[in-house]
Amino acid sequence: MAQTGPEKKKLFIKTWGCQMNVYDSKRMADILSPLGYQETDAPENADMMILNTCHIREKATDKVFSELGRLREHKEEREKTGGKVMIAVAGCVAQAEGDFILERAPYVDMVFGPQTYHELPEMVLKANGNQRVVNTDFPSISKFDLLPDEHKSQGVSAFLSIQEGCDKFCTFCVVPYTRGAEYSRTVAEILHEAHKLAENGAKEITLLGQNVNAFHGEGPDGKIWGLARLIRAVAQIEEIRRIRYTTSHPRDMDDDLITAHGDIEKLMPFLHLPVQSGSDKILKAMNRKHTADDYRNVIEKLRAARPDIAFSSDYIIGFPGETDQDFEDSLKLARDVGYASCYSFKFSARPGTPAANMQNLVHDKIASERLTRFQSLINEQQIAFNQNTVGKTMGVLFDRRGKKEGQLLGRSPYNQSVHAFANDRMMNQIIDIEITGGFENSLTGKVMTI
Ligand code: SAH
Ligand code: SF4
Ligand code: F3S
Repeated sequence: MAQTGPEKKKLFIKTWGCQMNVYDSKRMADILSPLGYQETDAPENADMMILNTCHIREKATDKVFSELGRLREHKEEREKTGGKVMIAVAGCVAQAEGDFILERAPYVDMVFGPQTYHELPEMVLKANGNQRVVNTDFPSISKFDLLPDEHKSQGVSAFLSIQEGCDKFCTFCVVPYTRGAEYSRTVAEILHEAHKLAENGAKEITLLGQNVNAFHGEGPDGKIWGLARLIRAVAQIEEIRRIRYTTSHPRDMDDDLITAHGDIEKLMPFLHLPVQSGSDKILKAMNRKHTADDYRNVIEKLRAARPDIAFSSDYIIGFPGETDQDFEDSLKLARDVGYASCYSFKFSARPGTPAANMQNLVHDKIASERLTRFQSLINEQQIAFNQNTVGKTMGVLFDRRGKKEGQLLGRSPYNQSVHAFANDRMMNQIIDIEITGGFENSLTGKVMTI
């Protein structure tokens, strides 16, 4: 008898938050694929809808609940014609809010956290039997041991999670609670996945972790490897032409890793290195365990190792106790470093974190004013950095079509978006492009003719 595959069903996943959530969403699709689920961009046609959520700042949770309201309408509409449509809340809001989501949104079928999504097949079975599922434990066996070996292609630029969780407990941050304790995958496992991604067309790999440079995975020699050694091994994979890693903590930027920036050509000259504040008093209250000068030193060493390296960062503005002088110290640090780009966020009190109970709050109006000032400094720096690349020739990895006919869109080594008119053959290739225009958020360029 002819074998028939599983019934085809449609899966809609919406992802918020960091790149680790992007990676997790792709892996959820990999797990659900053998059950017959194929991804769709249209929630109204979906048989399963997953919201992969982020808990890092307040508005994120509100967005989840308003999105759930929309998904509910699709579910009710489609269920009128029979069949079951499932709604799942995954990720860090699911981890933090658990049962509360089921209470507040009775049409939600499954709630599961970042460390339990490998159990999706069992959860789907239960939910199909009309049991609502909450699965927010931190299992003793890592999900990585249980994820399927098959990966759908991530395209030419791929993410690979090498490390999970965080033990740093910065006083403002939910990550140690939502992602759990720090855990590094083994080198063998990571290299296996990197080879798979390369076979599926990846030329750029971004190694991911909430504290990626705290990586300390077991190597094939039984010894513990740091990130620098791992990067050297990934760089041996011929098809992989570019390597990036994110997010790093300044305290874990060891000399090996700094040296790696100088001698591994495939390691891109761009590093996201969050500092959070330029004031030592605030850094201490944040439990960052480094000073502003420690950060300056790390930047200096990296620049000595790789003179063309550029940086981005994260700053929190208006942390409890931040005075005008503390804020000026943040502006000064940003001026001293000179960023290619930088994120800045107004402090948001997260329930359950130590900073949520701090008393000396900064008035919202003052925090907003400071944020505006900080962001205008960063905009200036970003435009200056982008304009400074005009006239230079850089390798651009094209991975998308541009809005205009005949235009391709790709990334420079510094992760800048570059638009250029280019032959379709150049898609998924690294092409030398002469930069002709530098703007706030992107560059234009032209293909070098030889
Ligand atoms: N692991 C990374 C980043 C984690 S979260 C690191 O160690 O830096 C991403 C960014 O969100 C942080 O760098 C921080 O700037 C911001 N963030 C985290 N918690 C926040 C809060 N409670 N309020 C405002 N911004 C926050
Ligand atoms: Fe959060 Fe700090 Fe850990 Fe980064 S290092 S994830 S900011 S606790
Ligand atoms: Fe957000 Fe969780 Fe990532 S809180 S930033 S999705 S680890």
